[in-house]
Amino acid sequence: MNDTVLEAEHLTAGYGDAIVLEDVSLALPRAGLALLGRNGAGKSTLIAALLGLARQRAGTVRFGSHEITRWSPLRRARAGIAWVPQERAIFPSLSVTENLTVVGRAGPWTLERVHELFPRLAERRRHRGGQLSGGEQQMLAIGRALMLNPKLLLLDEPFEGLAPIVIDELEDAIRRLADEGVAILLAEQHVEKALALTARAAVLDRGRLAWQGASGELAGDADRIAALMGFAVAEGDMMPADPN
Ligand SMILES: Nc1ncnc2c1ncn2[C@@H]1O[C@H](COP(=O)(O)OP(=O)(O)OP(=O)(O)O)[C@@H](O)[C@H]1O
Ligand SMILES: [Mg+2]
Repeated sequence: MNDTVLEAEHLTAGYGDAIVLEDVSLALPRAGLALLGRNGAGKSTLIAALLGLARQRAGTVRFGSHEITRWSPLRRARAGIAWVPQERAIFPSLSVTENLTVVGRAGPWTLERVHELFPRLAERRRHRGGQLSGGEQQMLAIGRALMLNPKLLLLDEPFEGLAPIVIDELEDAIRRLADEGVAILLAEQHVEKALALTARAAVLDRGRLAWQGASGELAGDADRIAALMGFAVAEGDMMPADPN
């Protein structure tokens, strides 16, 4: 059974004249891919390349049965690729409900289903986006992406800067997405959590693929994680050492 949702082969991409990603090949299975790597490794750039937002120099990208390498960002979105950017980018002056309904496509994800996934968004439906806590804004950003009824959701560091209890809530929601048929790419620096939520993992280092394999294999190998990510300590949920 081929359960690959998206596949990049020999992807080289960057911005303008700058090349950031070089010769990256990876496969994203239906059960999810963790995209790991320290600050500046190229995770967001890879996401931008998959969305058609970076400058692609070489390589191919396949999504389902289509080769989408030359597709515009809009065409990729219409084909079912949605994105939750690192900076969340919700509309601060619109209400929660307006944020959720400003864009959308017919499908199983409706306002009711998003409220069911994130009851806090239902409670706060009349609040403005800008009045929400960081965790609630992340829920809103994910909910808004789900309203597009995507086949694939690219999550760029959804846990960044959030309290552990809020991260737990988001983890539960992300775990449910797989059951609902939404494939995820999870770029994260919370390595253990990202590995627990995905079937496969890819580690970037300075724009190149440093490791790829089963998430379970990497999760059990603290030494390899430390070597790949440059961790200072391996305790609790490991966080990378400051590269500076
Ligand atoms: N718009 C841009 N123009 C030029 N260079 C960029 C741009 N965005 C990122 N870069 C560079 O590309 C490299 C990879 O950055 P990227 O944001 O993809 O890393 P990242 O893994 O997402 O890091 P972080 O974990 O901090 O989000 C960095 O050297 C960065 O300076
Ligand atoms: Mg990033």
